[in-house]
Amino acid sequence: MSSSIKNIDLKYSYDKYGNLAEMIIFSITRLLYNVFFIFATLFTKALTEKANLKQLIESPHPHECSPKETYSFSKEILFTKNSLPHLYDKSTSVQKFNNYLENFFASNNSVTRKEWDLALPTSDERQEMKQLINYLYGLYTFNEIQSNAILNSFPKLQKWVNLTFIEGKYCIIHEIIPSGCRFPRFWGYTALCARKYALKPNLHHSASHFESDGDVCNEAATIFESTGSRSLVVAGANRYAVRGDNPSSCQPSYQIADASHNNDPMFFTMNVAVHDAAKQHASKNSLPFNDTFIEWHGMAETSCLSAPIFISAGVHGNHFIYGDKNSTVNRIRDSVNKNFGSTSSAQTPHTDESCKLIASSNVFGRYVNSVPESDVCTIEAKIRDIHSQFVHIEQKHNARCSWDLWVKSINDAFPI
Ligand SMILES: *[C@@H]1O[C@H](CO)[C@@H](O)[C@H](O)[C@H]1NC(C)=O
Ligand SMILES: *[C@@H]1O[C@H](CO)[C@@H](O)[C@H](O)[C@H]1NC(C)=O
Ligand SMILES: *[C@@H]1O[C@H](CO)[C@@H](O)[C@H](O)[C@H]1NC(C)=O
Ligand SMILES: *[C@@H]1O[C@H](CO)[C@@H](O)[C@H](O)[C@H]1NC(C)=O
Repeated sequence: MSSSIKNIDLKYSYDKYGNLAEMIIFSITRLLYNVFFIFATLFTKALTEKANLKQLIESPHPHECSPKETYSFSKEILFTKNSLPHLYDKSTSVQKFNNYLENFFASNNSVTRKEWDLALPTSDERQEMKQLINYLYGLYTFNEIQSNAILNSFPKLQKWVNLTFIEGKYCIIHEIIPSGCRFPRFWGYTALCARKYALKPNLHHSASHFESDGDVCNEAATIFESTGSRSLVVAGANRYAVRGDNPSSCQPSYQIADASHNNDPMFFTMNVAVHDAAKQHASKNSLPFNDTFIEWHGMAETSCLSAPIFISAGVHGNHFIYGDKNSTVNRIRDSVNKNFGSTSSAQTPHTDESCKLIASSNVFGRYVNSVPESDVCTIEAKIRDIHSQFVHIEQKHNARCSWDLWVKSINDAFPI
């Protein structure tokens, strides 16, 4: 009995050591394999990242209009954390800076619903943004001021926002340049031209549909800059940035990231802030408040067949504003038709009733036309409150790539 136990023991020990040897070999093989796998993965990842960054450096975005002034990126600019070197020299411009910032905007179908919800501004952040814009709007020049000194008074924003100044003339309020590929909050930006330099102190521009409407952000930046207008607000996300079907609670027939139809994005708050600052500035100086706010859009070639350019005051064609030869909408239409010649003609809702892109549900448009800030989702502007201070411009491809003609047209429609 005992010998059989011994035998068993022996067999057991033999199996044990045999297995151990196998296990050691197996473990070493597995370890080698794992080490190889880890290195291979890291190597592939590094290659992919390098390729992605290379692509980002070489082709910032597919710009349909091939902007004449494309900022040429150097690796240092992209790789140095939180730095914006060389952006203050004479060759720089708001359009080039816009082009640079677009690299970090949220593209079509790139954001999860959770990321979007978390990125929305808090009410404290909105409040501070309004105060910051109001403060900067009142300055005569931006020569003597520094980002840090100002932002210290805006502790909630300071974590996310920085100011870039171009020659004391422009101040651009934007998210801190990220080390990664994207701004974390999708807020877009506001550019102000200082009071001393603004040739058209009562003219403002915005673009709400990054990417999906074509190259309209670069276009709006060019027109803002080249006409000497006072402000520019650009949204930081494609209207279809959020993955899946996400109707906005503001206006359920539009998607949640559509900054023209939702009052949640910072774009709306920035526009309201500029509007209110302009109004306050006028009242302080006992001037009538009659500023114009143009929102720039691109439309499909298949939309509005008889209108290469469609200019609306945010209301249907029977409104009295279209019968006033000197209303802002009609002045722009006439100068477009003069300057664009046969290349593109402009219509209004009065001359082209078949085009439905009249922008009566545009949330900022409603605000300009006296709808209270908290009601803009659901309440239309009252007919008597609409004086074409809000102008909505839809354009097909040729028109939205004709930046020079637009600069001429806006200069003619808003003479100094
Ligand atoms: C903010 O911008 C200034 C230049 O205007 C720069 O010196 C500073 O490093 C920037 N801050 C951050 C956090 O990026
Ligand atoms: C957005 O992205 C989705 C999937 O990536 C694509 O199917 C769709 O055509 C894109 N839409 C636009 C308007 O670019
Ligand atoms: C047209 O409107 C502009 C801007 O409000 C004003 O300066 C100009 O005097 C007006 N012209 C006429 C003919 O009423
Ligand atoms: C504001 O401008 C519009 C369009 O130019 C003009 O019709 C209106 O009379 C102006 N109102 C004031 C108060 O200046």
